[in-house]
Amino acid sequence: MLSRRQFMGTAAASALFGLPKNLAAGNGAYSPIDAQVRNIQLAPPNYAQTEIWGYDGKMPGTEIRLSQGQRVQRTLQNNLPQATSIHWHGIRSDNAMDGVAGLTQDAVPTGGNFDYDFAVPDAGTYWYHAHNRSAEQVARGLYGALIVEENDAPDVDRDEVLVLDDWLLNPETAQIDPDFTSRHTRSHAGRRGNFVATNGRYQLSLPVVQSERLRLRLINAANARIFVLQLAGLEGWIVALDGMPLPAPHPVSEDLVLAPGQRIDLFVDVIAEVGETAHLVRVDDNEGLSQVAFPVAARGTQVRRGPPMPLPPNPDQNVTNLEGAMRARLNMGGGAMGSLDAAIFQGDRKSFQELVEANQFWAFNGIIGMTETPLLEADLGQTVRLEILNDTVFPHAMHLHGMHFREVQKDGTLGPLRDTLLTYGGETREIAFMANNPGDWLFHCHMLSHADSGMMTWLKVNA
Ligand code: C2O
Ligand code: CU
Repeated sequence: MLSRRQFMGTAAASALFGLPKNLAAGNGAYSPIDAQVRNIQLAPPNYAQTEIWGYDGKMPGTEIRLSQGQRVQRTLQNNLPQATSIHWHGIRSDNAMDGVAGLTQDAVPTGGNFDYDFAVPDAGTYWYHAHNRSAEQVARGLYGALIVEENDAPDVDRDEVLVLDDWLLNPETAQIDPDFTSRHTRSHAGRRGNFVATNGRYQLSLPVVQSERLRLRLINAANARIFVLQLAGLEGWIVALDGMPLPAPHPVSEDLVLAPGQRIDLFVDVIAEVGETAHLVRVDDNEGLSQVAFPVAARGTQVRRGPPMPLPPNPDQNVTNLEGAMRARLNMGGGAMGSLDAAIFQGDRKSFQELVEANQFWAFNGIIGMTETPLLEADLGQTVRLEILNDTVFPHAMHLHGMHFREVQKDGTLGPLRDTLLTYGGETREIAFMANNPGDWLFHCHMLSHADSGMMTWLKVNA
């Protein structure tokens, strides 16, 4: 395995010499990401090993870390028993590299490969994951962190990537529950696990030093679980959401809510005493549990810093011309206990009972799943306002590919840039974005069982 320094060295070298274009067009041009089946010790040591699907056989997959403006150049090698593809979640990059099987590329068959090559315009915390049969492939472990470093490194002592997930394991065998399409999971809150882990580790523990400042990069890779988190023995600030820096660090005073697909970057100062343990706390049914433990091993040599400076802004963060925007609406309906009594599925109107039999439960504007024509078609540079009504009794985490949006808040002001919006049942929300990235972009619920059973549409930005 390459160390981070060696990896940076390789990336710098290829940026320096460049790669001839004809090489990029061929297959297998870049260093591989090998999607493969592997047994790992996921559950605690008294359990059997678990068969996962992982990038390079690792959980999480090999971290990809590079500097803002560089290119990701990697060849996916598919050694899985299923066709697959990789989506680079949150990267505002080339549509042809977005990795959506069936929309931007064909799924890569078993034994095949695909060259991904794109620039990363924004610094921040992103992730990559399978985007074919995602409800199964992500639940089996096909994801990893994609970290884009600021060219001006922030003032922190350490940088820790924390990928949160819950696994649905058979408690006897420690194997992943292979029913990825169950009616109940699809029609209710999605696939929820019974084994919660961080970076594939049960009760992750990271020794720290008093007064040091850590950057924690939280990534929710779960199929459906909304993580509710708190800090104990740590004083923290939110510095970025979904990769994008906040204009001013926001002190952590309330619960942190991290929906599937979302990221939060925190700066935290260790304020617990030597001998104590600080925690990232997960709130589960009103109970506080340790998600990550930070035992304070020693008193640091340094004094605590003052409040942090904001991260440097990424390019093109403004959403302007709200008045002249094109407007569209998305009504989300369906699911258990919902009011959907019929919807269009594969071109035909079906009663809810027929949809249940087809194992399809969710509709956008009365239509289940992908359509021939996009939800909306915008011209390059146009501002788009999209009103979203969650007319269901479940929360949904709506993810837009290719562009970040801002929420148009109730008072008319714009919220932070995000790529995934958590909506609760009964809410109406509105997002606005600049259609500044040409191509066909998916817009779907990141509760992946919901996406698989109807909650998936797309929009088009003309070149
Ligand atoms: Cu993170 Cu379309 O997905
Ligand atoms: Cu959903």
